[in-house]
Amino acid sequence: MDFNLSEEHLAVQEAARDFAQNDLLPGVIERDNEQKFDPALLKKMGDLGFMGMMVSPEYGGGGMDTLSYVIAMEEISKVDASAGVIMSVNNSLVCWGLQMYGTEEQKQKYLVPLASGNVIGAFCLSEPEAGSDATSQHTTAVENGDHYLINGTKNWITNGNSSSVCLVVAHTHPEKGHKGINVFIIEKGTEGFVVGRKEDKMGIRASDTHTLMFSDVNVPNENRIGEDGFGFKFAMSTLNGGRIGIAAQALGIAAGAFELSLKYAQERKTFGKPISEHQAIQFKLSDMATRIEAARMLVYKAARIKDQGKDYIKAAAMAKLYASDVAMWVTTEAVQIHGGYGYVKEYHVERHMRDAKITQIYEGTSEIQKLVIARELLK
Ligand code: CAA
Ligand code: FAD
Repeated sequence: MDFNLSEEHLAVQEAARDFAQNDLLPGVIERDNEQKFDPALLKKMGDLGFMGMMVSPEYGGGGMDTLSYVIAMEEISKVDASAGVIMSVNNSLVCWGLQMYGTEEQKQKYLVPLASGNVIGAFCLSEPEAGSDATSQHTTAVENGDHYLINGTKNWITNGNSSSVCLVVAHTHPEKGHKGINVFIIEKGTEGFVVGRKEDKMGIRASDTHTLMFSDVNVPNENRIGEDGFGFKFAMSTLNGGRIGIAAQALGIAAGAFELSLKYAQERKTFGKPISEHQAIQFKLSDMATRIEAARMLVYKAARIKDQGKDYIKAAAMAKLYASDVAMWVTTEAVQIHGGYGYVKEYHVERHMRDAKITQIYEGTSEIQKLVIARELLK
């Protein structure tokens, strides 16, 4: 497989790196402290084309491949993993699904503003009693003439408050199991749709995570995506691509922490020489660089396979499983290399370590990725 980056890929990398260094880096510690993402930054991400990278230009997107998307995700997450997840949900969980499975009307009405970043999307699958066990949906959608009536609660929803358009998974025919699940496009402001509490998180603190409540929410039939009963397949198929995005986020977090550690190790002196001259530190740096490179290969491979139109379920799960473990390990070592300075906010690596943990949990925990990989191996 060819991992050489084309001129276009290198241009995307440079644009994302410039945005991350010049715009995201300056306020990243404050945003983490205050648990707020700056709307002006969000607008700039949209203006630069980072919110709908893989959407066809016909619908206002960048028309780029998945490899371009993961390259941008890596650069942005190197500096600000909160920006990474906001971007990832909009690109891979909302825009991609709408482009693949939405009707022309749905695309014109919802995809076009989402692709430009003028409007932000949320993907609402998880519930208090349906996380890994995603088919156990308690949210219901009852058909009633020309509309559905939605009732239920979703939790852990990224962009829960900042989004205007939500893709909401619900059971229409619980007796049919996963084949009775559908997904609906629901707009904020619809009567009965309430944004609940905001989570106070360990990491990715500048991205907003909320509970969403639906009480007799009226959704027109034309807002259902796909054929009746297609909702679970929609969610799983969307998550396959989402997992590549989160793998790239994890890769970025690891690479960001590594770059800081490499620099710090050459500046910090103990026993009369830079700590980079102690073999113990050199070995840490070697292991970090090697694991990051291996993670990058898996992430690029998954993206390439998706771009080639081949089945990428296993490749995506492997990339996420491995890259998230690498992110957790590398960021822990990065704090160690920084000593006491690594334990305080100013040096950034403690944030990277806190941010890394979520990549082993969301979009399918590491245990679920292993289950997905094993099922593919044993097919
Ligand atoms: N791709 C395509 N189809 C898939 C699939 C995949 N990765 N995984 C399952 N399916 C299909 C199966 O083929 C099956 O279809 P058929 O009946 O037609 O054969 C159907 O879905 C049901 O599959 P299973 O029988 O395997 O279902 P299960 O209940 O045993 O388990 C699971 C499935 C893989 C564990 C699934 O529930 C899962 O992925 N859970 C994790 C949920 C998750 O990732 N949530 C993320 C929420 S979004 C998020 O987290 C965003 C964020 O943080 C930013
Ligand atoms: P559980 O499913 O209860 O799992 C608990 C533990 O048991 C885990 O270690 C798990 O791996 C393990 N486990 C469960 N089942 C098995 C099994 N069969 N075999 C082996 N081990 C198993 N969801 C959305 O829909 N949209 C979002 O935008 C979103 N954003 C999120 C943002 C954040 C910050 C967080 C924390 C979560 C987000 N989620 C979102 C939810 C996330 O996807 C779930 O938290 C995740 O899928 C795990 O579900 P759970 O928390 O219910 O854990």
